[in-house]
Amino acid sequence: MVQGESSAEVSDTVVDLSLTDQSPHEAADAIEAAMLAQLDRRIRKSVLFTSGAVDPTQDSSYLSQDELIIAGDDPRLRQMPKEPTLSDFFGLRFSPSKMHLLQSAMLASKHGYGENVVIACLLHDISMAGFVRGDHGYWGAQLVEPYVNEEVSWAIRAHQALRFFPDESVGYAYPQSYVRLFGEDYVPPRYIQEEYESARKHRWYMTGRLITVNDLYSFDPDAQVSIDDFVDIIGRNFKQPPEGLGLDNSPVAHMWRTMIWPTRSL
Ligand SMILES: [Fe+2]
Ligand SMILES: [Fe+2]
Repeated sequence: MVQGESSAEVSDTVVDLSLTDQSPHEAADAIEAAMLAQLDRRIRKSVLFTSGAVDPTQDSSYLSQDELIIAGDDPRLRQMPKEPTLSDFFGLRFSPSKMHLLQSAMLASKHGYGENVVIACLLHDISMAGFVRGDHGYWGAQLVEPYVNEEVSWAIRAHQALRFFPDESVGYAYPQSYVRLFGEDYVPPRYIQEEYESARKHRWYMTGRLITVNDLYSFDPDAQVSIDDFVDIIGRNFKQPPEGLGLDNSPVAHMWRTMIWPTRSL
């Protein structure tokens, strides 16, 4: 089967799991196995995809001599346009948690903050939505750095640390949800504490702080906001490369390519 020809065939795959008592993870694995059985290419997962579920030092999923690998499009994913834009990543690659980004940006806009803050809110968790969760503020800042002004990427990086520290001057308290998620006694690691101390003294501190202010109250499952609501703000504040994100030879283009083709083997 030629790469790219297999989408329709694979998407017709139906696995009846209703009579099993599989966990969601087991069910996902079963669906994946059924889909892969229809391909003649092996989809190899990056170590990061499986680390923890398996001990990476013990993983022995070697390729056998006669197997082919995925070299481009994963037929299980919707295909990206040839010149992908930020909106395409929102639509075709980011998880439903993107609604949190859209709601945060909408809240910042309703509060009357400037476009720097609105675009920072719109982008602040894109790493969680499409790339890597841990240290998401750092990854997210890096992803957008060549395309936004320096203050925006600085603020996205800083929000990683600032969200753990209250600031009464703007009504930001330590999130109750963090007490539940991290436990009562959680103390952020030293690098986060140092980042916070340095961010507090920075001239752009308030931009990073306002991400946390609009972040906290913006989870509303009923409020639907579309990326189309931000087309103008994106146009003015995000330098969309004409070649497409990931194909523009910027220092982070490879990170966007990884989101386009997350299962390429090399
Ligand atoms: Fe965040
Ligand atoms: Fe957030």
